[in-house]
Amino acid sequence: MNIITTVKEMHNTIIEQKQQGKTVGFVPTMGYLHEGHQQLLMNARAQNDIVVLSIFVNPTQFGPNEDFDTYPRDMDRDEKIAAEAGVDYIFFPTVQEMYHDEPSVSVRVKSRTDVLCGRKRPGHFDGVATVLTKLFNIIAPDKAYFGMKDAQQVAVVDALVRDFNFNIQLVPVETVREENGLAKSSRNVYLLEEERDQAKELYKSLELAREQIQKGSRNPVEIVKLMTEYIEGHTSGQIDYIEIYSYPELSPLKHLTGKIIIALAVKFTRARLIDNMTLTIN
Ligand code: PAF
Repeated sequence: MNIITTVKEMHNTIIEQKQQGKTVGFVPTMGYLHEGHQQLLMNARAQNDIVVLSIFVNPTQFGPNEDFDTYPRDMDRDEKIAAEAGVDYIFFPTVQEMYHDEPSVSVRVKSRTDVLCGRKRPGHFDGVATVLTKLFNIIAPDKAYFGMKDAQQVAVVDALVRDFNFNIQLVPVETVREENGLAKSSRNVYLLEEERDQAKELYKSLELAREQIQKGSRNPVEIVKLMTEYIEGHTSGQIDYIEIYSYPELSPLKHLTGKIIIALAVKFTRARLIDNMTLTIN
């Protein structure tokens, strides 16, 4: 496994590999790798000749009051995880290498961002789209892997790939869950003991929604009400949102049809958990 820190070396390495007919799978991350990332790497390893992992804490996707400076970093641990997952190259540039002094151009995402978590993080997805545009140009992967835990990010990347004509296959990867259904997240450690047990109810509320839809309900207001009552009755968490949209467009629906996403965010004492389910209704 090689660690590459410059854009030029990364790009030239990929060109050499592609000239030899190798396919490239790419897993973009901000490091501090967890099981979700390992799942992405496993998929990339199984489906490509070369696997590139980027580790870059991207300043342009953090708001002024967000935790860019304190975002957790642990390169030694990440290197071990990457080596075990069979990564060929880690792209690990500095902020200066990626953005130089004062970039003149950035990407603005016009839709899919003013709902769910994006509503509270103005500019966040512009930063994500900007850095991914750069990374996609540098690494030119055949396939890029993203976790469905952050389904809104997947929806934005879907639009980016389509609108900017990237010749890349976006591969969404299912959320990794505990046996009881709780979506794995580095934030789960912040749950108090009694909350840890309650947190599994978030996925149960999504399953309840799915059952209602399978029984024939097509009214999003009714489903959101059912989920709200369930979460309020089974947890001490404060609901931040429960929303249902078409997917990946993230447009509101009056009548549930086609591919949809049911997404929620719930605040516990020290952790805010998100989860979602996508369904196709014929
Ligand atoms: O999901 C992340 O870790 C980041 O948003 C990404 C895709 C690596 C872009 O910085």
